[in-house]
Amino acid sequence: MFMTEELAKIAQAMVAPGKGILAADESSGTIKKRFDSIGVTSTEDSRRDYREMLFRADDAMQNYVSGVILYDETIRQKAKDGTTLVDVMKAAGSIPGIKVDTGAKALAGRNASIEAVTEGLDGLRERLAEYHQLGARFAKWRAVITITDSLPSWNCVKANAHALARYAALCQEAGIVPIVEPEVLMDGAHAGHTIERCYEVTEWTQRVVFQELYDAGVALEGMVLKPNMVIAGQKCAKQASPEQVAELTVKCLKSTVPSAVPGIAFLSGGQSDEQATQNLSLINEIGDLPWKVTFSYGRALQAAALKAWGGKAENVAAGQSAFTHRAKMNSLAALGQWKQ
Ligand code: 13P
Repeated sequence: MFMTEELAKIAQAMVAPGKGILAADESSGTIKKRFDSIGVTSTEDSRRDYREMLFRADDAMQNYVSGVILYDETIRQKAKDGTTLVDVMKAAGSIPGIKVDTGAKALAGRNASIEAVTEGLDGLRERLAEYHQLGARFAKWRAVITITDSLPSWNCVKANAHALARYAALCQEAGIVPIVEPEVLMDGAHAGHTIERCYEVTEWTQRVVFQELYDAGVALEGMVLKPNMVIAGQKCAKQASPEQVAELTVKCLKSTVPSAVPGIAFLSGGQSDEQATQNLSLINEIGDLPWKVTFSYGRALQAAALKAWGGKAENVAAGQSAFTHRAKMNSLAALGQWKQ
């Protein structure tokens, strides 16, 4: 059993002032979709080249990125010169992390076409031991909750929260800090998905998650929460202002997240790059928060870099500079200092 103090130290480093997390843990299916959008074939080499470009962006990695969430393939991969990608990011002072869930699968029952439960608990203890050996010091597990007029169901919220808690306890046993990610989705076609509805579902989900974490004996000091912001669904005609998003997000988290949790690192969830930055900055500008509040963005950190790179070796510098720019803007936002 690892000491909570060691876990707490890692968790604090993950949310150090002005730093946040790069989510680069796209599964092979998801990264293929991203590469399709720029007309690049997804191969082991192209995935390696793209991610090596990001991890070698020294300014971003040293100054704005505390840690990187990797996918199973990447944590085992070597850079072109033979150095492991883990060593590349460690040399820049960034902590390696690993996605350990095996994806959201249809939750059996009458809402199976809509609701999902995240899988990956079987054999997780053994996989975590190996990932720790490979250098991972934190992990991620993402649960997804879909909003409709009548959903989520209690069954869906409970099943996902329970799995998150079992995952988190296994991580801590292995000396790995769990990122606990219950994502209330903002995409989807549902028109009644207002910011108020998102608040209601996010508050409920967080409450159930923290009850399950308590029941599983998870040390809150040694975890990081990765929630959605409280925001209207993308298809909702009534969109909330950034100020309202910040206000309701803080209100919701203050009412559900114990202050023993060292940090909250948001997902971007389909927000535009600038929207994700602005909302994070406004949240921090409210101030007087009991936890560090930062980013753990995938798309909002990578979209511009992916486009600038376009799969071409001659564009690596442009890709790195696009990534560094977003990382720097989000670093300012994590300090509540970003201005339009
Ligand atoms: P996005 O920021 O693109 O939502 O991805 C973050 C993430 O890790 C989702 O699990």
